[in-house]
Amino acid sequence: MKGEGDQAEAHVRALVGQVEAGLVALALPDAPEPLYAPVRYVLESGGKRLRPVLLLLGAEAYGGESALKRAMPAALAVEVFHAFTLVHDDIMDHAAERRGRPTVHVRWDEPTAILVGDLLMALAYDLLAKVETDHLREVLRSFHQMVLRLCEGQALDKAFEQRTDVSVPDYLDMIERKTGALVEAALEIGGWVGGADAAGRAALRRFGQALGRAFQIQDDLLDLTAEDAGWGKTVGGDLVEGKKTFLLLRALERSAGEEHTWFARIPSAGGLPAEEVPEARVRMEGLGVLAEARDTVRAQSNEALAALAVLPPSSAREALGWLTRQLVGRAR
Ligand code: IPE
Ligand code: IPE
Ligand code: MG
Ligand code: MG
Ligand code: MG
Repeated sequence: MKGEGDQAEAHVRALVGQVEAGLVALALPDAPEPLYAPVRYVLESGGKRLRPVLLLLGAEAYGGESALKRAMPAALAVEVFHAFTLVHDDIMDHAAERRGRPTVHVRWDEPTAILVGDLLMALAYDLLAKVETDHLREVLRSFHQMVLRLCEGQALDKAFEQRTDVSVPDYLDMIERKTGALVEAALEIGGWVGGADAAGRAALRRFGQALGRAFQIQDDLLDLTAEDAGWGKTVGGDLVEGKKTFLLLRALERSAGEEHTWFARIPSAGGLPAEEVPEARVRMEGLGVLAEARDTVRAQSNEALAALAVLPPSSAREALGWLTRQLVGRAR
């Protein structure tokens, strides 16, 4: 007999498969080729498909299996929008690799990547407008407010690179916008489509907020510690770029004397030379910063699991729990 974990895993995998199929079925035109070739490259490059699956599970948790079909255009919309943010984020972060392949602005060029992003944004709204629900206005509002918050988060992330007075609470506010907003909106939109009441939508949002925090801190951690090629991004990229990640902020707070000077020059020098990334990792390990980040990810995912307890019992809720526990130990 299959255990509950196996069932939850199969449930999530089936939804990932449906999202993949939905993306292929978008049937984008071929021409002009300089535009649609990179668009296809982005949409068919894999990725965890986390956000659309969260949306589908949020809908299913309140509307049952029949809500899945209605929610699919919205699920595709959030994944297409996510793809847009990654393409522009990679320009902003000077990132050369994404999902194990060259980023769009490296494989093609920046004008192409800007335009691909623009197209994906329009495609996302087009998909969203196809959702059959009595709450389309609320769905659009949730999505639109998310876009604003995500842009604010990205602006803060860039501004923090130059600043020397960023605190951990500042950081948490920034990631709540750049990453949490989309995770939260995916779940809330799922709730709207599935027919969740106000309390249900609030529970989904609380779950999304905690999950978003856990997810971004784990992303910061993996940016330095990922060991296998499945990570798909350049290891140490955040330090080279001078990002105020959870790790760097805590290293600055925990270190003293020579070691503090070692970390403090990273922002003022506009980033760390790539060859010094291994040393940064050793120093952070010594300061207990990596262990603290792991503990924080665990604490935030426990908070997410606690929020889930409010949802009505269902296989969708089990799948959300399984997904949350998976993300804590994820390597990609
Ligand atoms: C990357 O998101 C951007 C962050 C918020 C850290 P994912 O880690 O979900 O990227 P893919 O879609 O799986 O590639
Ligand atoms: C994630 O920020 C937020 C968005 C992409 C909007 P990161 O810059 O940490 O994401 P990765 O690490 O490049 O995927
Ligand atoms: Mg980035
Ligand atoms: Mg970024
Ligand atoms: Mg990152």
